[in-house]
Amino acid sequence: MASIRLDNLVKRFSGGVEAVGGVSLDIADGEFVVLVGPSGCGKTTTLNMIAGLERPTAGDIWIGNDRVTDWEPGDRHLGMVFQSLALFPHLTVFHNIAFPLMIKHVSRDGIAARVSAVAATLRVTHLLSKRPATLSGGEAQRVALARTIIVKPSAFLMDEPLSSLDAKLRVEMRTELKRLHAQLGATFVYVTHDQAEAMTMADRIVVMDQGRIHQVGPPLTIYNDPTNRFVAGFFGVPAMNFIEGELREAAGGLVFQAPVLRLGLARTTGAGAGPAVLGVRPEHLRLADGGEGSSVTVSLIEPLGDETLVFLDYGGPASLVAKVAAEDAVAVGDRCQVVLRTDKLVFFDANGARIA
Ligand SMILES: Nc1ncnc2c1ncn2[C@@H]1O[C@H](COP(=O)(O)OP(=O)(O)OP(=O)(O)O)[C@@H](O)[C@H]1O
Ligand SMILES: [Mg+2]
Repeated sequence: MASIRLDNLVKRFSGGVEAVGGVSLDIADGEFVVLVGPSGCGKTTTLNMIAGLERPTAGDIWIGNDRVTDWEPGDRHLGMVFQSLALFPHLTVFHNIAFPLMIKHVSRDGIAARVSAVAATLRVTHLLSKRPATLSGGEAQRVALARTIIVKPSAFLMDEPLSSLDAKLRVEMRTELKRLHAQLGATFVYVTHDQAEAMTMADRIVVMDQGRIHQVGPPLTIYNDPTNRFVAGFFGVPAMNFIEGELREAAGGLVFQAPVLRLGLARTTGAGAGPAVLGVRPEHLRLADGGEGSSVTVSLIEPLGDETLVFLDYGGPASLVAKVAAEDAVAVGDRCQVVLRTDKLVFFDANGARIA
């Protein structure tokens, strides 16, 4: 088991691409950390540097008390799980799982005992005599995990290991991985571009964009208290609504003024007057009966079964989206008023930084 420390890691590829631009992160022993961000933000490059598959341009990597920046991958005792499984097609599941021990010349009995234990953990005991081609996607993924676990790595590095699975299986495997993490008590560093995977599995989420870390924190902190507009917009489906407007000084506080909206705000710290963006999540918008002067129109409805998404035209550049109870009677063309949960609102300045 091991903690991992990244100290100002930089990776520039030939041709001048700066894939990682100074990443520092402390991962505790036994922690489940998820690196998440859009395609090309540097997640894989960061993970590959931890694994030793890429050499950093600058910065250091520590595993436990060892500075491993220049160590060979094999000396770092990390288990890697990739999107592409690379199981050996001509070997049975048993021999696929046993393979890392066979090349280390572990005894026959030793191998049998370890494979049996690991197969039980990953619930693949009934598959041991099958060949990879006859496995479902989820089964193959579990076999690949078993093969990684069997060498007892001090930490696991996983790069989008579930992305080739269908949606239902992905959700099941999320639960399996969480269970496995609890059972092994090992450090997990998991890379995904799927915010739902990050939210559901992580002890802490690391949000990256363009080679940099934007925010590090527990899932609900990231969701409820985003440090900037990028983080706010990346998490949540559908995404947070952003309403462009302006903060103005008013007696006793500030007023947020936007096309359909005028909100009085108690003055808190430092926030001053100027252009601002209001962020509000779909579940924090409520629809009230229309009347004279109501200025939003229902343009589209998407029933999800348990809830309904209601798209609203308000004269702004994009629609507002509200998530309402499925039994609420709403129809396209309805005129209504929007009520916001004021305790859940966030504001950003023109550069996207959070306004306190
Ligand atoms: N070997 C390489 N040579 C040059 N540029 C590279 C190389 N590998 C990655 N890059 C670039 O570095 C940036 C980060 O790539 P990386 O693979 O780390 O992104 P990622 O966050 O894993 O994205 P994805 O979600 O698509 O897997 C990208 O702009 C990519 O094009
Ligand atoms: Mg990647």
